[in-house]
Amino acid sequence: TQDALVVFTPSGRRGRFPIGTPVLQAARALGVDIDSVCGGRGICGRCQVVLSEGEFAKHGVNSCASNLSERSDNEQAWEKTHGAMNPGRRLSCSTTVLGDVVIDVPADSQVHRQIVRKRAEVRDIELDPAVRLYYVEVQQPDMHVPSSDLRRLKEALDFDWRLTNLQADIRVVQELQSALRQGEWKVTVAVVDAERIIAVWPGLREKVYGMAVDVGSTTIAAHLCDLQTGEVVASAGKMNPQIRFGEDLMSRVSYVMMKPGGDGEMTREVRAALNGLATELAAEAGIRVVDILEATFVGNPIMHHLLFGINPVELGGAPFALATDEAVTGLWATEIDLHIHPNARIYALPCIAGHVGADTAGAILSETPYLTDAMTLIVDIGTNAEIVLGNRSRLLAASSPTGPAFEGAQISCGQRAAPGAIERVRIDPVTLEPRFQVIGSELWSDEAGFAAATAATGITGICGSGIVEVIAEMYLAGIIDQDGVIDGTLAARNPRIQPNGRTFAYTLFETDERMLQITQNDVRAIQLAKAALYAGVRLLMDKMGVERVERISLAGAFGSHIDVKYAMILGLIPDCPLDHVAAVGNSAGTGARIALLNRGRREEIETVVRRVDKIETAVEPSFQQYFVDAMAIPHKSDPFPNLRA
Ligand code: FES
Repeated sequence: TQDALVVFTPSGRRGRFPIGTPVLQAARALGVDIDSVCGGRGICGRCQVVLSEGEFAKHGVNSCASNLSERSDNEQAWEKTHGAMNPGRRLSCSTTVLGDVVIDVPADSQVHRQIVRKRAEVRDIELDPAVRLYYVEVQQPDMHVPSSDLRRLKEALDFDWRLTNLQADIRVVQELQSALRQGEWKVTVAVVDAERIIAVWPGLREKVYGMAVDVGSTTIAAHLCDLQTGEVVASAGKMNPQIRFGEDLMSRVSYVMMKPGGDGEMTREVRAALNGLATELAAEAGIRVVDILEATFVGNPIMHHLLFGINPVELGGAPFALATDEAVTGLWATEIDLHIHPNARIYALPCIAGHVGADTAGAILSETPYLTDAMTLIVDIGTNAEIVLGNRSRLLAASSPTGPAFEGAQISCGQRAAPGAIERVRIDPVTLEPRFQVIGSELWSDEAGFAAATAATGITGICGSGIVEVIAEMYLAGIIDQDGVIDGTLAARNPRIQPNGRTFAYTLFETDERMLQITQNDVRAIQLAKAALYAGVRLLMDKMGVERVERISLAGAFGSHIDVKYAMILGLIPDCPLDHVAAVGNSAGTGARIALLNRGRREEIETVVRRVDKIETAVEPSFQQYFVDAMAIPHKSDPFPNLRA
C-alpha cells in the first residue's frame, strides 16, 4: 500500500500512514490531542477536524477520490441526529486519509483545550477534569464464558480506552445491570482520576457537570461548569444562612463555645444552602442536580471546618490550630449531605493556617505569584484581609484584622454594595461640592436624568468602595489632614462642614428625608481598617526583605469595585506603579473553578501551599508600630512616588 504524509496543526505533529488509515487513528499514533467520548464510533461528534490541505475519503474507501462534501455513512448518520456540521468539518474517526494532508484540530475538539477567562488580563484554564465520560459497547453475557457484568464492562474500558485496574463504586454496581440491558449493552461511564467508575448510564451520554463553590462568611457563590468544555453554564449566589448565628467569624465561633452542638447546627445550615444553590444552578442550566458529578470548594478556615463538620473552636483562639491543612479529596457528595449525584466527588483546596484558608489558596492558584519573578502582593479584603506576598522563590501569607469597615459596617451611613449605594465620589477642591455615582446607574449626580435614574432605589447609603473614594477625595480637597482630622475651621465658610458633637462632619447628600454624612468616627474607622491592612502588608514586606512590591492583585468583592488609585491615595496598599495594580474579582472562586477543571492544578496548589510561610501578625512586635505609622494618610513616612507621577 501507498503511504501518505499526514500533518496535524496546530501541534505540527506529522507522520506517514497507509492510505485508508482513519484520521483519528493517525492522530492517536502521533499523540495528537483529539477528543472522543464514543471511542471512534461516529456517534459523539467530539472528534471533528478541519481539512486544510489535501483530501479525505469516506471511511473504508481507499481508492476512488471523493470530494470534501461527501460524508461517510457514520457522518451522515451523525448529522441526521445532531444537525449539519460546518461544511469544512469531518468526524476524524469516520474519515480516512486519501493522500498527503494537513489537518487542523480546532480548539473545541482538543481534550486539553484552553478556557479563556473573560477578563482584561486574559489567562487560560487548561481543561483536564478529574471526571471524564467514556462510551463503551460491552459484551453480552454468555453461558459458555461465565463472567460478570462488571468484569465485561471493565474489559471493554480497557480495550477501547486503555483504562486498566479500574475500581467501581458500589452504587455503580447496583445500577449496572439495568443500565447495560436498557442501553442494549451500550453504556457511558464516568471515571474519576482514571481510576474509579463513579456513574453509569445507558447509551451515549455527552454531558457532565461540576460546581465550584466559594463559601464566604457572608455570601456563598457558586458556578456550574460543563466539564467537557469548561464553560460556566450557570452562576448563583446566596447569603450564608449562618449569619443568624453571628455576623462575623468570631461570633460564630463564640456561638459554638456557648452552645454545645452549635457547630452541628451551622454545618446543617451551610449544607442546606449548598443544596439550594445546586438546585438553582441546575434549573438555570436546564439540567438535573444528579447530572453534577463533582464539586470543589474554597472558604476561610472556619467556613471550611463547618462545611466538613469539623468543630471550629480551636480556630477561635491561639495557637489557632487547623484540624487539617491538607486538601479534602475523594469524599462522596453524600458524606456532606449534598444532593447532587450521590457518587459525585468533593474536593476542597487546602487551608494554609488558622487564619488563612482555602480561599487564600484559591487566590494563590488563580493569581499564580509562584510562577513569576515579580514581587507580587495579593490582598483579599473582607472582614479579615488575607495577604499573600512573594514570587517564584518564596511566599508569605498572613491575615490582618481589618474589621468590617470596608464592607460598609461601622460607618454611620455605610451599607453593603447594593442598588442605591453611593460607590463613586468626587469633591471639588474649591467649593467642596460633591458629585457621586450610585450603584445601578451610570450617571453622575450632577448630570441630567440622575434623579429619574435613581428614583426607584433612592440614595440609601455608601458602600465600601464609595467610602474609600470619599475619604480619599476629602483628603485631596483638604477637608481632612494627614492625620484624618476634619478641619473644623472650614465650617465657618462652607455649609458642607458641620459640627457633630465635639468634632465635625462632611455632608455628602441631603434631602428632607435623608442626610448622608461622613463623620470623624467614620474617617477613624477607615483609618483603623486601612492601617491594619497596610501594617500586615508592611510586616510581610519586612519578613521578605523588600522595600517595594512590583504587582498587586486586589481580590474579593470589595477589591473588584475599588478604584485602585483611591486605594493608594488612602494608603490601603503600598506604592506600586498603578498599571501593575489590578482588581481581580473573586479570585478565590476562580481558584475553585480551576481546581474543578484541571486536576493537575490541584496537585500544583497542594504543593505550593506546603511551602507558604505563615506569619501570625498578632504576635509580631513590629506590627503595632507599623499599625500606628499607617494611620496617617497615605502613611506617616513611607513614600508613594507612583502617586505623584
Ligand atoms: Fe465520537 Fe468520532 S470519536 S464521533
